[in-house]
Amino acid sequence: MATSLESILQELEDVQRSFDTEIAGTVEPAALEAVRVKYLGRKGQVAAFFKKMAGLDPEQRPQLGERLNTLKGHFQSDLEQRKLKFSRNGGQSEGALYLTLPGIAPAVGFRNPLLTVMDEVKQIFGNMGFTVRMGPLVETEYYNFEALNVPDDHPAKDLQDTFYLQNDFLLRTHTSPVQIRTMQNEQPPIRIIAPGRCFRKDTPDATHSPEFHQVEGLVVGEGISLAHLKGTLIAFARQLFGDETQVRFLPSFFPFTEPSAEMDIYFDDRLGWLEILGSGMVDPNVFERVGIDYERYTGFAFGMGIERIAMLKYQINDIRHFYEDDIRFLRQF
Ligand code: DAH
Repeated sequence: MATSLESILQELEDVQRSFDTEIAGTVEPAALEAVRVKYLGRKGQVAAFFKKMAGLDPEQRPQLGERLNTLKGHFQSDLEQRKLKFSRNGGQSEGALYLTLPGIAPAVGFRNPLLTVMDEVKQIFGNMGFTVRMGPLVETEYYNFEALNVPDDHPAKDLQDTFYLQNDFLLRTHTSPVQIRTMQNEQPPIRIIAPGRCFRKDTPDATHSPEFHQVEGLVVGEGISLAHLKGTLIAFARQLFGDETQVRFLPSFFPFTEPSAEMDIYFDDRLGWLEILGSGMVDPNVFERVGIDYERYTGFAFGMGIERIAMLKYQINDIRHFYEDDIRFLRQF
């Protein structure tokens, strides 16, 4: 049976289709060359079809010839374009996608445990109805000290302890100025926490860092008492350190609270009682400065150092680890 032109043209369609698929799957010049040889090589598919011309009626041969030449042209320009694409990608396979190659795992970072503890503290107070307020890191002498009833001769104001900037500016030494900013802008009832960075001129050692973090808290309303302070902070300590945690309050002093108390937790038999925060009832002098009626309202405040809490929770023995970005430290948490 003579080969029919029609069935040959049909086969050519299939060849074109498989060429299209194969060339689209090439990801590097070597694979492209293999496709070229398979289709356009001396013993390739197109050459084989040229040979089939001999089996056709003479008047049909030019038709097949023309079709084969067009196909060859298409193949050549497709190969050319594909090659150009590779060379644009840097000559080699770069930028190409090897679907079967094992992936390269990206180097992942690790979260600083400080942020984790900070989030946990925010979460605990958030569940008790506190909302978050932020304040500037560059503060004025007024917000950082004066409005908080800190006397001019207080040692914290010393040049040796505080980073003073130009004019009346300084880097805040605690998060307490956010109390003032909040009370200036909002009316009681107030129930906020203020997490953030603070700075003090401390020489770095295992327990001191010139940069550190605190979370401040403030509750103002009618009838707020020391019982609210204790209840809130005990609930907080037990959520953070465990249900069974023993807590005690000892008298303390801060210029912005009266009375003031530190809260300790019983950590373990080796470390015993450890202070984890300062607190107290808002001093009427502070209310007066922000224009809150201290005959009507009372409040409590507290402040804690996040580094210290994180060090206890994760048994970290040197505060400087938090600031060294050492992956060997960070990957442990
Ligand atoms: N601001 C104090 C500090 O930096 C911590 C503090 C103590 C904050 C008692 C308070 C407080 O709000 O009531 O050491």
